[in-house]
Amino acid sequence: MTIHPIESGIHPAVVEAEDGELRIGPAPQAPIELSLVIPTRNEAKNLPDLLERLCSVLDAQVPGAYELIVVDDDSPDQTWAVALRMAERYPAVRVMRRRGERGLSTAVVRGWQAARGKVLGVIDADLQHPPETVGELWEEMARGADLAVGSRHATGGGVSDWSALRRALSRGAQLLGLCLLPSVVGRVSDPMSGYFMVRRSAIEGAALSPLGYKILVEVLGRGRIGRIAEVGYVFRERSAGESKVTARLYLQYLRHLIRLRLALLPARFPKFAAVGLSGVLVDMACLFLLKDRLGWALTPAKLVAAELAILSNFLWNDLWTFGDLAREQGYGRARLKRLARFNAICAAGLVLSVGLLAMQVAVLGLNPYLANGIAIAVTTGWNFWMNKIFSWTPAAKLAAPAAQRRAVGA
Ligand code: GDD
Ligand code: MN
Repeated sequence: MTIHPIESGIHPAVVEAEDGELRIGPAPQAPIELSLVIPTRNEAKNLPDLLERLCSVLDAQVPGAYELIVVDDDSPDQTWAVALRMAERYPAVRVMRRRGERGLSTAVVRGWQAARGKVLGVIDADLQHPPETVGELWEEMARGADLAVGSRHATGGGVSDWSALRRALSRGAQLLGLCLLPSVVGRVSDPMSGYFMVRRSAIEGAALSPLGYKILVEVLGRGRIGRIAEVGYVFRERSAGESKVTARLYLQYLRHLIRLRLALLPARFPKFAAVGLSGVLVDMACLFLLKDRLGWALTPAKLVAAELAILSNFLWNDLWTFGDLAREQGYGRARLKRLARFNAICAAGLVLSVGLLAMQVAVLGLNPYLANGIAIAVTTGWNFWMNKIFSWTPAAKLAAPAAQRRAVGA
């Protein structure tokens, strides 16, 4: 996409965004250290106070080397016009008035695309994020963090006056994220935060496809984030304007999580799933042969059919899905060891699957076929991850001493 600074146009502080891919490029000019994006939708009453307080903190900490980019979605209360008036008094302020596109997360990324800083940040405009905390976030970045997150759940953090329902919804959303994307959402104490800074180099070139409100999840999932710092802050009550959160946003959040989950699946997973499907055919065919053709009883026929399917799956996975790792580890005894582990993990998976099916039908009253679909999906995930870790362990991890393995979080 192209960002047009309008030099000769309406106002020198105005930038216009065109629709296009949401990808962060290199900074156009270097001298800016920090670009803080302020997404707004009807925040005319809050913006002047916010900008004033941000400038007073940042003038002391990053003098002359920061910019505040207000990204307004053509608010009916003319927030953009208020921002432009402020830009005359505060040279660090720039304004983007979007007409074609809507939405909090895309507003943030559009702002970052127009940004010139090495560090990119975001803060709400409604003063629920205390502007003074920006100084602490900046200090963490200056100390070398790739990502500094303002957190309600870190020391010194909290929410001022939330109902039990709102707290539960917020924690429920976090828990859901943790189940679907543990290695992403589990990296920070407040993955719902919209108050953070990230090093441009950590997200440069990554195609971000944010949906709805939760841009931090996207940054964590698609960026190359090494060191993370957290800064506690207290989420204030809104004194003016109103929240734009609706039930629709909860569904968007769920869609966002699922999309990210699918995008981050390892390349081996589709192979593993295809092998699993072939195993179902082997199982069916053997059951038919043993029971209908050879006249075996159902239970022994099923046990043998399942075991043959596991063997067939093992061979395909050892030759194809994890073929490279199998070659590294060698065949003979090493292969027998892999087979034993694969067998044990898949047997546990079978127990898991049966248990899940029964639980969903008996306790949750789910349709048995839907429940079986979910049980199969969960079991496939279990089989994949467990076998990836224990049966086809990469040689590098086998060689590393346990302490070192723990340190790198493997
Ligand atoms: N440009 C633009 N477009 N800005 C928007 C839009 C939009 O469609 N929707 C909301 N905003 C702006 C608001 O004006 C405000 O500055 C900020 O985004 C946050 O919106 P709120 O509607 O006030 O959100 P909230 O306080 O309920 O939700 C916040 O929850 C988190 C805590 O879990 C999120 O905004 C997070 O930033 C926050 O940390
Ligand atoms: Mn808010």
